Amino acid sequence: MSTAFPRALIVGASSGIGATLALKLAGTGAKVAAVARRQAELDALAAQSAGRVLPYAGDVLDYAATPALFDRIVDDLGGLDLFIYNAGVMPPVEESEYNFDKDRQMIEVNFLAAVQWSNLAAAHFEAARAGVLCGVSSVAGERGRRGSPVYTASKAGLTAYFEAMRNRLTRYGVRVVTIKPGPVETPMTAGLKLPLMITADQAANEIVSALEGGATEAFVPGIWRPIMFVVRNVPSFVFTKTNI
Ligand SMILES: NC(=O)c1ccc[n+]([C@@H]2O[C@H](COP(=O)([O-])OP(=O)(O)OC[C@H]3O[C@@H](n4cnc5c(N)ncnc54)[C@H](OP(=O)(O)O)[C@@H]3O)[C@@H](O)[C@H]2O)c1
Repeated sequence: MSTAFPRALIVGASSGIGATLALKLAGTGAKVAAVARRQAELDALAAQSAGRVLPYAGDVLDYAATPALFDRIVDDLGGLDLFIYNAGVMPPVEESEYNFDKDRQMIEVNFLAAVQWSNLAAAHFEAARAGVLCGVSSVAGERGRRGSPVYTASKAGLTAYFEAMRNRLTRYGVRVVTIKPGPVETPMTAGLKLPLMITADQAANEIVSALEGGATEAFVPGIWRPIMFVVRNVPSFVFTKTNI
């Protein structure tokens, strides 16, 4: 079996999009290091993939442990071809709730830890003059939304960071890919009614296609590209009156 990415690392791979993506990539013949806090879920992925998914229990908020964990994974894999930062949290936030603990967790998991892990992967890829650096952002990062001010801000930050990394790393032969899913059925969205919802399986298939096809930015599914073009261009005074 030939795979585009023999050695892959996914951070946030124990459920939803990340777990499905790990199994898909393993199915193409890749060895996939899977990082998340829930060891049992990671072990189940290893069992389902005949050992092609390698479990690494870790918390992205343990900043002191991250560099050594990254080095250990790259050593174990014998190098790295693809890095995906997919970890994310979106706790429920009420319309008039201003909760610093929730806000801090979203900024740290969705953005700050993404920067720490992606910087490590970027330095590795820049030195190797090769590699694919991928971040799972969201259509939610395209505008500030009243229902989730800090989730949208964390994803807007991630999108801008990945754009800057693309501008920095392309000259070294490193491809930087920003994935922008719309609503996907996962534990994160359990119980939510959201428009144009797709399954984690559909999302993972589209992400693998984007990675294999050479994309640098992919809306998942693609229909979100024209929708977001319009949404981005709605004037602020109109956007304030809507709830889109
Ligand atoms: N579902 C959607 O509609 C949607 C839409 C757009 C973008 N996204 C983005 O897609 C990504 C995946 O989300 P999902 O929908 O698949 O949700 P999910 O099933 O809840 O997956 C979230 C992943 O992040 C990991 N994670 C969270 N906190 C962590 C921490 N402190 N340390 C290590 N790993 C941590 C979780 O692992 P552990 O809990 O085991 O640590 C899990 O593997 C997220 O970045 C999300 O923002 C989702």
